Amino acid sequence: MSQDKRHPFLQGLSKHRGVQPTIITIFGASGDLCARKLVPAIYNLAVDNLLPADFYLIGFGRKPIPDAEFREIAAESISKFSRRPLNKEIWNRIEKNTYYCSGGYDELEGFQKLNDKISSIEKDAGREMQSVFYVSTPPSVFDPIVKNLGEVGLATKYQDSDKHTKVVIEKPFGKDLESAQALNRAIQGVFQERQVYRIDHYLGKETVQDLLVQRFANTIFEPLWNRNYVDNVQITVAESLGVGTRGGYYEQSGATRDMIQNHTMQLLALMAMEAPASLDAEAIRDEKVKLLKAIKPLKLGYENPEVVRAQYAEGLIDGQKVKGYRDEEGVSPQSETETYAALKLAINNWRWEGVPFYLRSGKRMARRVTEIAIQFKRPPSSLFSENEMINLANNSLVFQIQPDEGSTILLNGKIPGLQTRTQPVKMHFRYSTTFGSNTPEAYERLVLDAMIGDGTLFIRGDETEASWNLITPLHEFWKAEGQRGMETYASGSWGPNAADRMLWEKNHEWR
Ligand code: NDP
Ligand code: BG6
Repeated sequence: MSQDKRHPFLQGLSKHRGVQPTIITIFGASGDLCARKLVPAIYNLAVDNLLPADFYLIGFGRKPIPDAEFREIAAESISKFSRRPLNKEIWNRIEKNTYYCSGGYDELEGFQKLNDKISSIEKDAGREMQSVFYVSTPPSVFDPIVKNLGEVGLATKYQDSDKHTKVVIEKPFGKDLESAQALNRAIQGVFQERQVYRIDHYLGKETVQDLLVQRFANTIFEPLWNRNYVDNVQITVAESLGVGTRGGYYEQSGATRDMIQNHTMQLLALMAMEAPASLDAEAIRDEKVKLLKAIKPLKLGYENPEVVRAQYAEGLIDGQKVKGYRDEEGVSPQSETETYAALKLAINNWRWEGVPFYLRSGKRMARRVTEIAIQFKRPPSSLFSENEMINLANNSLVFQIQPDEGSTILLNGKIPGLQTRTQPVKMHFRYSTTFGSNTPEAYERLVLDAMIGDGTLFIRGDETEASWNLITPLHEFWKAEGQRGMETYASGSWGPNAADRMLWEKNHEWR
């Protein structure tokens, strides 16, 4: 058998053929995401020798910034945010091919300049190159950027070859079903679907990819993965951070648009979908869409609610007093935006009928944790006494997506001694123990995949629409209700009591 001699990051990935000469343009290059994630990701790909010799970076934004200044800003963000320290020699290789272009996102002039810059890079290098356009701006300008790329001919450049242009679109992809459909139409009017990479950075996380491996590379889980054995599933995406400086954005967004519609629903889809026929991007996306479409519409109202929303009040995070959401910068004192949401979903298919899926996400919660907990049913009868039976824990399998990445199985074991007494015991798998720490960041994998042209870890248009289809009626309901039903929770807690009550109805509780 021939050995895979490629870099460990690439080994075993049949799709990866290496990156062809590439010019990557980042729209919104003066922004937070570019500095904290994108430039460090590109740098780390260079450290791993995964960038082609012909690699060029162009920052694009409204304010004119000289190339030299942008290079300095980029070097600074690597020093500050990269998982590996700045190595001058490696940075010099990227730096000499780094440029900045300015222009309004809704004005053609800047895009013409960008087109000229790309042509002159190709001319100097003496070869044609693929362009990857990374749209890292607020969603309000996704549409004009896409249209202007079409207007100046950059979208269709080399369209029938493997050098065809690619466009990466950040989240949130729209604000409701209608706007997502409109954005899809605008994109499809300019690009072919194979050119479009809708990003959800959770899909680039190692542990999220591992979910597919755990499910489909092992035989022990599948027989249990259904309504006969699973009692309920809990997906938690909790952050201890508040909205920070992003109050303006967050006010328009809230927890359901910012986290549930995308990251949390993607975790749900990967956890609950059927096995795809192959690891092909379309096969996986088809299964995710089928699953998302099988989710029953949410029952909206106040009797036995299936949704809870709340805002954080002041409280303690790591022993420090923090302010409540309505006192944050850029947030209205009468804000109706939720910083926490919990949903109870039902999936209408053969596998999952009757199994509640609880989803929750919030800011300023007790600690940062993302996990999927599968709670199994209790044994049908017991050899143990009535009392012991009561003490038996439900078996559970927990995928810890972050931090402390790994998985844990909870079993009941015997306490050593003459009596037969039980105690829940845990079997752990820890990424850091088995594989070491400092694994690639999600954005490294996703930027690389976009350059290679592998869409497996990106979202298809119908997928995002299926997810909005579920969430949009909820937003309409909340909008009509104003403040009614908005709960509060102390910063540093696990959310509002109403979210606990939602689970009690079925005798469940959050893990
Ligand atoms: P920023 O608010 O930092 O904006 C990025 C850039 O967009 C700005 O530097 C600015 O560039 C331009 N911009 C800002 N506001 C406007 C506006 N009203 N009209 C036109 N252009 C504007 O955003 P982020 O970098 O935080 O996020 C970018 C995208 O990535 C968003 O869609 C966000 O949802 C998504 N995202 C962000 C994450 C993060 O951690 N930051 C995580 C995951 C996704 P200039 O003035 O130079 O034109
Ligand atoms: C982003 C949200 O998509 O994800 C942020 O806009 C959130 O509000 C972030 O903080 C969380 O990402 P991670 O990778 O830190 O869990």
